[in-house]
Amino acid sequence: MSPARSKVEIGDRAARYYDRFLSLLSLGQYSHLLKVAVEKMGIKPGESILDLGSGTGKNDCFMVKKVDSGGKIVGLDISDEMLSQARKRCRRYPNVTFKEQRIELPLPYKEEFNKVFISFVLHGFEDSQKLRIIHGAFQALKPGGAFYILDYNEFNLEKIWFPIRWAFTRWECQLAAEFLKLNIKEMLRGQGFADFEEELFFKGHLRLLKTVKPTAA
Ligand SMILES: C[S@@+](CC[C@H](N)C(=O)[O-])C[C@H]1O[C@@H](n2cnc3c(N)ncnc32)[C@H](O)[C@@H]1O
Repeated sequence: MSPARSKVEIGDRAARYYDRFLSLLSLGQYSHLLKVAVEKMGIKPGESILDLGSGTGKNDCFMVKKVDSGGKIVGLDISDEMLSQARKRCRRYPNVTFKEQRIELPLPYKEEFNKVFISFVLHGFEDSQKLRIIHGAFQALKPGGAFYILDYNEFNLEKIWFPIRWAFTRWECQLAAEFLKLNIKEMLRGQGFADFEEELFFKGHLRLLKTVKPTAA
């Protein structure tokens, strides 16, 4: 059976067990990875951050500790179950809010955020949708703000260690396999972004890519 084209929209049942499943699949490393990625974002007190496809809100709980009470975090997602888990997880933080919003549709934000973050979401969209998501991030950022993409790095699936290849083809979608060959920097450049920096994880198979909205865009 050929894999689904996209698996990024997660049903309620799968969403309920999402954190546990990811923890199992990553041998307990998923939460740690998210925490380290957030550390690498250089978040400062008072900053505002938009999280596209915020899932169960883990990232947002890590980020809010960095922005402190003077900053704000807005998480966008389309899954009721994910939104409900995220709201519950971050209930102690009044400056973290979650909204139901399709991120490939126009976002209601213009030059409002210091940072936009998207983690393990972008690979699940068709290229035309990726362009719209990137455009939405660009519009939402203040000039000089940064866009962070935590996702698969470019690599040759055929050449990686068999168990990882097996897990990838078993669990991931067709679009994720295509993402491994995609020149995402070129796509970001085409939407106005510049200055790339990257941090690699899991032997270079995962990447936190940072790019900046120029001040004179
Ligand atoms: C693989 S999960 C990643 C969750 C989280 N970012 C993380 O790193 O743990 C993908 C998330 O994207 C959300 N999602 C899928 N399609 C979406 C869309 N079109 N608009 C907004 N969110 C979407 C899903 O509901 C899910 O919460």
